[in-house]
Amino acid sequence: MTRKTYEELRSARWMATDDFRGFGHRSRTLQMGYGEEDWVGKPVVAILNTWSDINPCHQHFKSRVEDVKRGVFQAGGWPIELPALSVSENYVKPTTMLYRNMLAMEAEELIRSHPVDGAVLMGGCDKSTPGLVMGAVSAGLPFIYLPAGPMLRGNWQGKTLGSGSDAFKYWDERRAGTISEEDWKGMERGIARSYGHCMTMGTASTMTAIAEALGLCLPGASSIPAADANHIRMSAECGRRIVEMIWEDLTPDRILTAEAFDNAVAVAMATGCSTNAVVHIVAMARRAGVGLSLDDLDAKSRTTPVIANVRPAGKDYLMEDFFYAGGLPALMERMRGALHTDCLTVTGRTLGETIAGARVWNDDVIRPLENPIYPEGSLAVLKGNLAPSGAVIKPVACDPKFLVHEGPAFVFDSYPALKAKLDDESWEITPDAVLVLRNAGPKGGPGMPEWGMIPMPKALLKQGHRDMVRLSDARMSGTSFGACVLHVAPESYVGGPLALLRDGDVVRLDVPGRRLDMLVSEEEIAARRAAWTPPAPRYGRGWGWMFSEHILQADQGCDFDYLLTDFGPPVPEPDI
Ligand code: FES
Ligand code: MG
Repeated sequence: MTRKTYEELRSARWMATDDFRGFGHRSRTLQMGYGEEDWVGKPVVAILNTWSDINPCHQHFKSRVEDVKRGVFQAGGWPIELPALSVSENYVKPTTMLYRNMLAMEAEELIRSHPVDGAVLMGGCDKSTPGLVMGAVSAGLPFIYLPAGPMLRGNWQGKTLGSGSDAFKYWDERRAGTISEEDWKGMERGIARSYGHCMTMGTASTMTAIAEALGLCLPGASSIPAADANHIRMSAECGRRIVEMIWEDLTPDRILTAEAFDNAVAVAMATGCSTNAVVHIVAMARRAGVGLSLDDLDAKSRTTPVIANVRPAGKDYLMEDFFYAGGLPALMERMRGALHTDCLTVTGRTLGETIAGARVWNDDVIRPLENPIYPEGSLAVLKGNLAPSGAVIKPVACDPKFLVHEGPAFVFDSYPALKAKLDDESWEITPDAVLVLRNAGPKGGPGMPEWGMIPMPKALLKQGHRDMVRLSDARMSGTSFGACVLHVAPESYVGGPLALLRDGDVVRLDVPGRRLDMLVSEEEIAARRAAWTPPAPRYGRGWGWMFSEHILQADQGCDFDYLLTDFGPPVPEPDI
């Protein structure tokens, strides 16, 4: 293996040149208190830290970054911490998805503009994984992804509670009047017990699993609970390994092949992944120059058994149990036959080598292939006259009776209008109705908020119903469940057919046939289209305006058009 020399490193152009600029960089480094022994001859490692005071999922990053630095120093590198946007899922409104691409742009430009040779990316809360990875892929320097790790299991009255999933479940019970306010308060105190990201197989756990399956993490990193000492040691290990990756010039284009993405999709399906994985993995693949389509995901879903028994697709367990059962390496070893084991990873070894011998310690948590939670069906991609470019449903998380369904639509044009109606106990809505929310897509939401698991109408909850068909151009939380058809593309806000649906129209859902249609004649649809007028723009200035100008539709991963690899000539190295 050839190794880079110090003079070949990118950072040497800043730090080692005998010119006026080099003088400036060195004198300013000395100003910060570093001595020459801290940097001379050493690779510079950027640590992109998405810590913030209001991101509980990344709360430990404030100290964990010191462990990454320790590893970088141990291996003879110079670590520099670069704070990056925190996209805290719980607090950021209207949705963190409005800012995933902002983080991606920030990550790319932080790496490009600074004197760095490689990066450790610290993320985990939903959008932080795709945002950081997309940006770092476009920057093109060697990098390792360090996942925040899941928080500990929730605990309440002797029961385990899962992030999101159980909050949704018990909120319906509260609205139905079957649990008390005191119980609800108890859950509020018990559901989130430590720092770390959501510990269900929601978007965070799905995306970190995808990052590891892609070969971007050190083995097992995505499953370690945030509060486990293994996570501290893993952080230092990332610091040590990135220094070697820089000398080896192990750039992401050598890791992120079409086969690596095929592996990541297979692993996602085996975990019963979040529906959000669809949008993010398509976007990440396109940054790497891999043309992954919704149809590729659907095909993989049909042939991949769901073997991770982790809520919400699984019934019983949470990420902490998944870690104790062997974690992602054990899951991947179990499905080795479905993976391209010759793919290179950040370890410098192949995926097959890194998972070799990983054992499953609990066959109920990580099931044998012959005894899956579901034989297939993590996700399904639907097409039809309501979604010409596709829509997504998670069959494993809905009542099977809705997989083939016809029912009358109740259509809402905005979330506030919907919310105002949901608690109306005199609402004459039947359990076969299809609840529709539109103008909630990438441009309409804006940012495609997680409104797609539309809360059950109180009138139906009181009758004992807990699921119904819901349809939107929104996303839903990866911790959600139910017969929710999501990501309808093109979205209604830009005139997709969902914009033409009316109250009382019959919607037909056929998941086995992968169809989503309104039973309305073509003539009638054409007449409605002719009469349709576009809604007013949501923004006249600022980030929202730029977002609306350049955001692509859900089936294309919601990247900005101008960030795509093939949009224009490559961005040059900065002049120094
Ligand atoms: Fe951060 Fe769920 S809120 S991962
Ligand atoms: Mg989430």
